[in-house]
Amino acid sequence: MVYIIGAGPGDPELITVKGARLISECPVVLYTGSLVPKEVLHTARKDAKVLDSAGMNLEEIVAVIKEADDQGQDVARVHTGDPSIYGSTAEQVRRLEALGIETTIIPGVSSFVASAAALGKELTLPELSQTVIVTRCEGRTPMPDKEKLPDLAKHQSTMVLFLSITLIAKVVKELIPEYGEDCPVAVVHKASMPEQVIINGTLGDIREKVRESKIRSQSMIIVGKVLTAEDYADSRLYAADFTHKFRKGIKTDK
Ligand SMILES: C[S@@+](CC[C@H](N)C(=O)[O-])C[C@H]1O[C@@H](n2cnc3c(N)ncnc32)[C@H](O)[C@@H]1O
Repeated sequence: MVYIIGAGPGDPELITVKGARLISECPVVLYTGSLVPKEVLHTARKDAKVLDSAGMNLEEIVAVIKEADDQGQDVARVHTGDPSIYGSTAEQVRRLEALGIETTIIPGVSSFVASAAALGKELTLPELSQTVIVTRCEGRTPMPDKEKLPDLAKHQSTMVLFLSITLIAKVVKELIPEYGEDCPVAVVHKASMPEQVIINGTLGDIREKVRESKIRSQSMIIVGKVLTAEDYADSRLYAADFTHKFRKGIKTDK
């Protein structure tokens, strides 16, 4: 079995109990060294073969896994954040399935939710934004025609951008026409890690702030009114007069 494990955003305590257990049991551990900190692997067996996949291509990764599988060994394939987002996991699963090798995915804490936590913010607020667009800016990886940033911006919902910090100038240029220059933006660098840095700004000034910070990697860009809103409505969920399956509402004067 190949366990594709989400390691979380960096803090070794933010891996799931199940992910940590599987790392401690598998004789082969293959991790994305460019993003997964070594401390996340501290539960690995002393005799485990622990390999960094950062310098390997897809064929080499599959070859390592196949060799383990041929010897009847389980593999912990450890990816950063959650494997379902920008993880290149689907292509690995496809190759492995073609070889008859079984995979199981163990979810992880994605860096965008860790970034929201670092900011102490909720990304959805009543009446302000009930949608989070998880996307990236078009760089070397082309965006599908219907997912261009200026089109997604039309919703003016909360937007989180992965893999886009070096393209901040383009992000700002493409979002300003819909969100406006004064729309709040936060950049979270290395969320949940000791080196975490938070830059707060607006679409009008974030480019300059990021340039001054010299941050060029491992950052989340979060855009939207929810970042600074104070006068949003309470949700219905905890309203005194709101009845649902688990609680009977009481009559109020309102
Ligand atoms: C290849 S993607 C992997 C995303 C991962 N699957 C996830 O769910 O977080 C790498 C990108 O995730 C973001 N990222 C990863 N770790 C981060 C962290 N600790 N803080 C902020 N952003 C992070 C950055 O945008 C980075 O360029």
